[in-house]
Amino acid sequence: MSDHEKIREQVKEAYAKAVSRPPSEEESARDGMEGPASTASSGGAPSSESCCGKVVSPSKGVLALLAGYTDEELRSLPRDAAVNSFGCGNPLALSEIAEGDTVLDLGSGAGIDILLAARIVGPTGKAIGVDMTDEMIERAKANAAAAGLNNVDIRKGIIEELPVDSESVDWVISNCVINLSPEKEKVFAEIARVLKPGGRMLVSDVVLDEAPDFLRSLPALHGSCIAGAISEKEYKEGLAAAGLAGVEARSRQEYDCAAIARLVVSEEVSGCGCGGGLSKELVESFLEANRVVAASVGFFARKPV
Ligand SMILES: C[S@@+](CC[C@H](N)C(=O)[O-])C[C@H]1O[C@@H](n2cnc3c(N)ncnc32)[C@H](O)[C@@H]1O
Repeated sequence: MSDHEKIREQVKEAYAKAVSRPPSEEESARDGMEGPASTASSGGAPSSESCCGKVVSPSKGVLALLAGYTDEELRSLPRDAAVNSFGCGNPLALSEIAEGDTVLDLGSGAGIDILLAARIVGPTGKAIGVDMTDEMIERAKANAAAAGLNNVDIRKGIIEELPVDSESVDWVISNCVINLSPEKEKVFAEIARVLKPGGRMLVSDVVLDEAPDFLRSLPALHGSCIAGAISEKEYKEGLAAAGLAGVEARSRQEYDCAAIARLVVSEEVSGCGCGGGLSKELVESFLEANRVVAASVGFFARKPV
């Protein structure tokens, strides 16, 4: 298995675990929803292996809460889709997706954005989601059915080799996924390939502008959307190098060190008493000392005609 495949496998494992476990009380409270979601969960208390081993499941809804969907949007969705949101922005709010468009969501997860997009494009449009994690694909399909949407098409695949025809989509969206890819230049090239001429892209993602190199090299932080993140400048250069035009940041929301620490240290880790006592407070003070700057950015680009 190549190093790139190993990273994808770790990310897959992290998100399979994250979506399969019921939300903690803190996560449910964050979503403003009482009690655990009624999901077909195979999760439960974290095992000692998941606690101190390499792969830790990311917290549900941490960044989505920070970047924000409206209450109306969240209430309009099946609860499972809202609770199992792992995004860092609201790409639809920054786009001009219209009725009849074909929208492709890279790393569609449990379906939050693809369901919202499907409503906007309506029966004459189409919303295609691509994800590599079986557990996420099952959830997204079930959530689309629960929402009564029949213009949703969820496909299994990797975003570095999209199972999508060239020049076939009007919009590419994505929410907190490309940072997880070990081959970002391939993803940017795939976006350029699948967009119709004149097609547009709006991607919300985490960037890490200032950080010590070793923070980027920690495998355990990869699934937390930190270790794989590149800077805003590198992101824009990557999109332009793929042949996309009009590259700009339509939004930028910086996270304080407490927010990043909440991403990096999930309840699983802080509650488990792993050797070394990794606590949110400790991580927060380390991030402050190293002047780590992380943000959620909404990137726009279009394919030249
Ligand atoms: C942080 S979650 C975001 C999910 C969703 N976009 C949301 O906002 O809730 C990352 C998702 O991307 C998927 N993913 C990560 N890397 C991927 C890759 N290289 N190819 C396909 N899917 C990937 C994971 O399986 C997971 O569902």
